[in-house]
Amino acid sequence: MSSSNTVWHKPLVMRADRERLNGHKSAILWFTGLSGAGKSTLAHAVEARLFQIGCRTFVFDGDNVRHGLCADLGFSEQDRSENIRRIGEMCKLFVESGVIALTAFISPFRHDRQRVRGLVAEGDFLEIYCQASLAVCEQRDVKGLYKRARAGEIPEFTGVSSPYEEPEKPELVVDTGSQAVEENVEMVINLLKCRGIIPEEAARPVAQM
Ligand code: ADX
Repeated sequence: MSSSNTVWHKPLVMRADRERLNGHKSAILWFTGLSGAGKSTLAHAVEARLFQIGCRTFVFDGDNVRHGLCADLGFSEQDRSENIRRIGEMCKLFVESGVIALTAFISPFRHDRQRVRGLVAEGDFLEIYCQASLAVCEQRDVKGLYKRARAGEIPEFTGVSSPYEEPEKPELVVDTGSQAVEENVEMVINLLKCRGIIPEEAARPVAQM
């Protein structure tokens, strides 16, 4: 491997120092679900809430990342695995930087999500299943992709011609098919408080957008 002659450089400023400075812990909030399930909407809404209470956050969004870092990848099982692997490695670095990283990728394969979970310490990876039926996602069809997939214009489309493997033991399941975004934001914020990632008292807005 080309990286076999490199040595890991131990930083002087450690993750725990950054977390102390920030007043919260870092973590990966991994939103998974079908295209159109509402992963991005929820991730951005959660980020907005966290930002307002003074947390350091960043959202990685499937469609955006595929324009840059993963622009060379398609939607075969192999390419999706590589997509998720890269995002996972990046999120691991963000966790070291003290940030709460939120991701919105379909990430349809269990083994890919498991691999990201295995990259970080126990409790750093929170899998949030954005549950919305295929029928609902297809009816929404915000980007018109389901229609094109049904017409045979997009191969290997998740839910239509490529599988989505539901999480078996996610940290949280949110009903993004029928529940209001605000209610789901509340559920995620509660999870973060329960896990001690953000402090219980972090309810007062401190930052403006
Ligand atoms: S993943 O499977 O590798 O996790 P990712 O979240 O990055 O997928 O990208 C999904 C987005 O790409 C969808 O929301 C949709 O807009 C678009 N897309 C284009 N082709 C496909 C496809 N074959 N299957 C699923 N999504 C696709």
